[in-house]
Amino acid sequence: MSDSKHGEAKKLFIKTYGCQMNVYDSERMVEAMVADGYVTTERAEDADMVLINTCHIREKASEKLYSDLGRLRPLKAAKPDLKIGVAGCVAQAEGGEIMRRMPLVDLVVGPQSYHRLPEMARSGLKSIDTEFPTEDKFSLLPKRKAARGPSAFLTVQEGCDKFCAFCVVPYTRGAEVSRPVTRIITEARDLVERGVRDITLLGQNVNAYHAQATGLAGLIRALAKIDGLERIRYTTSHPNDMEDDLIAAHGDEPKLMPYLHLPVQSGSDRILKAMNRKHTAQQFLRVIERIRAARPDILLSSDFIVGFPGESDADFEQTMDLVRSVGFGMAYSFKYSSRPGTPAAEKPEIDAALADARLQALQGLLSAQQREVQHAMVGREVRVLYDKAGRMPGQMVGKSDHLHAVHVTDPDGKPGDLVRVRILASSANSLAGARISGI
Ligand code: 5AD
Ligand code: SF4
Repeated sequence: MSDSKHGEAKKLFIKTYGCQMNVYDSERMVEAMVADGYVTTERAEDADMVLINTCHIREKASEKLYSDLGRLRPLKAAKPDLKIGVAGCVAQAEGGEIMRRMPLVDLVVGPQSYHRLPEMARSGLKSIDTEFPTEDKFSLLPKRKAARGPSAFLTVQEGCDKFCAFCVVPYTRGAEVSRPVTRIITEARDLVERGVRDITLLGQNVNAYHAQATGLAGLIRALAKIDGLERIRYTTSHPNDMEDDLIAAHGDEPKLMPYLHLPVQSGSDRILKAMNRKHTAQQFLRVIERIRAARPDILLSSDFIVGFPGESDADFEQTMDLVRSVGFGMAYSFKYSSRPGTPAAEKPEIDAALADARLQALQGLLSAQQREVQHAMVGREVRVLYDKAGRMPGQMVGKSDHLHAVHVTDPDGKPGDLVRVRILASSANSLAGARISGI
């Protein structure tokens, strides 16, 4: 245990930006630091160490790091012993620059080096570690066996070999690496013993998972054998890696939930080609058709980029047409952001106001579809896994199989209960219902 000079445990404040993989990574970093004698704090002002886990995917996401560091300056001036660390994809991409521009930063650690964090924090020296080691960093991280909430993320694959023309991930997270099946099963069993009933398997390109001659479908089927694990999901997938056995699993593996996030980015073949997506709009629609044949009630989600260099009105209309023909229950849409070092960054950007207008139009359509899919749940019976108590007395909040947030009036409910609920109402971002019975 490394105690502070006041004899109290040192306090760690961690701020996480970006995707679920960063959330998972932050949890692992907290576990490692707790094993090294730290406790966590919700307030940066109380901390002995502030760690910012960053996202580099769009320009706005990386800028947040520099404004956060600016805000930490007075804190560091008042408390020179305060350690400030930067983790994640901005650390990976711009570690040297961060150290030069921001002398208050003590350590920079890339996503593949988190196992070295406690040692880096202990040393008084400024340090950068953005190597891409070959060993499984998660198995090197010390763990604590604290109880967990009912839902957890589990990273099974990292990195990406797809090189979409707009994306920094292949550069910041490196080549595709899959964790061994046996380690994932052990970690999943451990999570279940600690109270987890719903696991989301994570990877930048999760359906490209392959290890020990097992693909993602095989991994899901192996995990489904764990007693007490009720729900399995996975994210994020690429349409070209939706193999037959994975689609089949959606039809016959009851623990695999009827929800799929499958980014398409654009509905225009010309833009898909320029994006280096290696599929057409028709091929994407065909994949959707096959998935729906296997699991007719599946809720589909996707990612879209508008304003990619060269996108014309006609290209954008094709994206709107694709959205109309699929009917998404959920979706994320972004304005193209030029990222240094990517092939698309070499191309002239389209007018910003035009891109804004397209984003608004697309988001309007996607929100209408989301409302419609949500509204169609009213009157239906769904299963809800309670996450926590709601804000109203006697109310619980949880997720349905389709990943809708559901508020349930249930004075006897507790986190981790999996119950049947009749949906009575649908509001902007959630459903409300009444409990039918326990399952
Ligand atoms: N600009 C805008 N959106 C991007 N995404 C990835 N890179 C960029 C970029 N340069 C979006 C894609 C991806 C999601 C995680 O972020 O839609 O699927
Ligand atoms: Fe980025 Fe996803 Fe394309 Fe990989 S598949 S390069 S993570 S957008």
